[in-house]
Amino acid sequence: MATKIILDCDPGHDDAVAILLALAAPESVDLLALTVVGGNVPLKLTVNNALRVLALAQREDIPVYAGCPRPLLREMVTAEHVHGESGLDTGSGKLLEMPKTTVADLHAVNYLIETIRGSAKNSIILVATGPLTNIAAAFAMAPDIIERLDQLVIMGGACHEPGNITPAAEFNIYVDPHAAKAVFDSGVNLVVFALDITHQMLITPARLAAIAELGGRAGAVVADLLEFFNQYDMSKYGWSGAPLHDPCTIAYIIDRTIFTGREMAVTVDINDGPSLGRTVADWYSVTDAKPNAMVITDGDSDRFFGLITERLATL
Ligand code: BDR
Ligand code: CA
Repeated sequence: MATKIILDCDPGHDDAVAILLALAAPESVDLLALTVVGGNVPLKLTVNNALRVLALAQREDIPVYAGCPRPLLREMVTAEHVHGESGLDTGSGKLLEMPKTTVADLHAVNYLIETIRGSAKNSIILVATGPLTNIAAAFAMAPDIIERLDQLVIMGGACHEPGNITPAAEFNIYVDPHAAKAVFDSGVNLVVFALDITHQMLITPARLAAIAELGGRAGAVVADLLEFFNQYDMSKYGWSGAPLHDPCTIAYIIDRTIFTGREMAVTVDINDGPSLGRTVADWYSVTDAKPNAMVITDGDSDRFFGLITERLATL
């Protein structure tokens, strides 16, 4: 039976591919809604991008709820340097078509609370691929939903890997470290895809070419998006492609055998200074802290990209 998921996201190129992958695997994933947060670009744009991606897949029936426009305490930080001014810039310069649908009236945080409360215990996996502001707000307003979730699967953090927005911190956690700390400390059944694993998932020229050759509704558009997305990481780090971070979360729900991980205690540094937003992981259990997260450590990148390519072909 397909797993019910809610995807909390800030599209963003890799968020967009995560959405499309979820829609392309209906036998495994039942996407209930997108809840959107400000992150890669301001909320107005991330919401519009979410609607554009659903329009591309001709799945305007999936509701989109707008959430928090800024972090709990800190000033907003965005990532136009990676995702472009629109948040979904393309190699060709042609933006995804404007959506005909609009955002739902309910606030994303209220949607999360109502939906998780109204569903059977352990029947929903919440996936988060942006800053954790919406999730922290929902957990603060309705702590009872924490144990109703089957899992919270997030893209965020950097355990052993250096950060990508500061030397210590990964972008999603850095944007709202206070929200992240609240979520990591909440007791939720947490699965973490940090940079340690996502940096193993590079969009190499051969993988990009395979997507470009797909045809169908999504192939050429996704390739155009990833062409742009590759530029920053390739020139900054000299890698053979950008890491395709966010879709790892959805691939995990579709086929867990692609990944392996290990339970450990992870805490988020909220002290001002160079380590703000760092996810400190007790890899060797050198403290008595109880593990609070399954940290994904390894994955088969060929199977991951094989799944994405095969699935996008069905859209
Ligand atoms: C994360 O930051 C964003 O730019 C991406 O969408 C991804 O969620 C990677 O650090
Ligand atoms: Ca994201």
